[in-house]
Amino acid sequence: MDISGLSLLLTLFILRPAAKASAEEITWTYSGLVGQSEWSEYFPECGGTAQSPVDVITTQTKYDSSLIPVTPLGYSQHGNKPFTLYNNGHTAVIELPEWMGLGGLPWLFTAVQMHLHWGSGGPSHGGSEHTINGLSADAELHVVHYNSELYPNMSAAMTQRNGLAVLGILIVTGEETNPGFNNILNYLSRIRHAKQSAFIPAFDVQTLLPKDLGRYYRYNGSLTTPPCYQSVMWTLFNERVQISKAQLLKMETLLYSSTAEEPDRMLLQDNYRATQPLNHRVIFASFSAESGKELSPGEVTAIVIGVMCGCVGLAVIVRFIVKTIRFFRLLHLETVVVNNSSTSSWDILHNNRPAPMPRTKKPEEDEKKQDMVMNSTSDGEIKDKPETDP
Ligand SMILES: *[C@@H]1O[C@H](CO)[C@@H](O)[C@H](O)[C@H]1NC(C)=O
Ligand SMILES: *[C@@H]1O[C@H](CO)[C@@H](O)[C@H](O)[C@H]1NC(C)=O
Repeated sequence: MDISGLSLLLTLFILRPAAKASAEEITWTYSGLVGQSEWSEYFPECGGTAQSPVDVITTQTKYDSSLIPVTPLGYSQHGNKPFTLYNNGHTAVIELPEWMGLGGLPWLFTAVQMHLHWGSGGPSHGGSEHTINGLSADAELHVVHYNSELYPNMSAAMTQRNGLAVLGILIVTGEETNPGFNNILNYLSRIRHAKQSAFIPAFDVQTLLPKDLGRYYRYNGSLTTPPCYQSVMWTLFNERVQISKAQLLKMETLLYSSTAEEPDRMLLQDNYRATQPLNHRVIFASFSAESGKELSPGEVTAIVIGVMCGCVGLAVIVRFIVKTIRFFRLLHLETVVVNNSSTSSWDILHNNRPAPMPRTKKPEEDEKKQDMVMNSTSDGEIKDKPETDP
């Protein structure tokens, strides 16, 4: 073994245990020295086989009819006590009161906090952690809950299977301002530096969620930041929420990952983790895949019956409309004067009017018409299209 090989070995031998020993104090980042590709050296679970986020390939999801809508509990009962907003150097965190929770899962979960992930508005155009069919959203909100039926608190639950339930909400930009998100974004300027916190007025957390809480993807995954514990039942909503471009810009540009004391300011941007391999995990969908190819026999029967009922209903409606039109036609004929044999002065004056529809009438109808012409008193008002008048 040459001298360089020996020194490399020594370096590894000396540095490795030192790094591991200080894992708790290690300040990890998204890129750079302790960037995401290095996380697993300091936090072994980050190298696990059930990591988050993931790319949801919709055609490979599996429909599960047992996945009922998730139900936010107490999200709108925010009370008067202010929320705490905190810059932890990785994201903006809002601590949630313990009476907020989540139902619709096999256990009752208690809310702990929520936080955001975003990009930098650059050409990379990332921002969300989860992607759908390879496509990122502009940002992502995570609402974190712990399993309060099985565990006494967050720190006990976060390392355990089914310990946490996180709601993932994909955020895209559009024209309109989302007033719900202003409850957070308007206060980011108070926590610009890492380790700063501020009290913000309590608000209805449900305004941050999409309207449709019934359509989502569910899979077993992990925390998306070190220590990456594989304890999360993920719920990623199908519906995205929309914020304005100006709102996204606040998220992307107002915060620093550095503390106020540090001389070099570091913008807190691109705080999203790359998608992780599924490794044989299945992503379940609470709704049928787009193509409808995942339909069960029961659903097919329901659709066939539905279509048949629809056709019968349509026939009844069409028949009713036809009858109504006939009725109004007859009603109109009482006031109509039709002179098919000669051109009236009215026709000459209004010859730029669309030509009257040629009518084919049954003989008995013509007879009726003649009777009515006889009875008619006003011969100046000619109406050619009675069916458009009622
Ligand atoms: C959480 O619960 C565990 C187990 O009961 C306990 O040892 C620990 O002190 C608790 N931690 C907090 C922060 O309350
Ligand atoms: C998660 O893992 C548990 C235990 O292995 C399993 O029972 C459950 O079906 C999994 N859930 C999903 C959504 O894959």
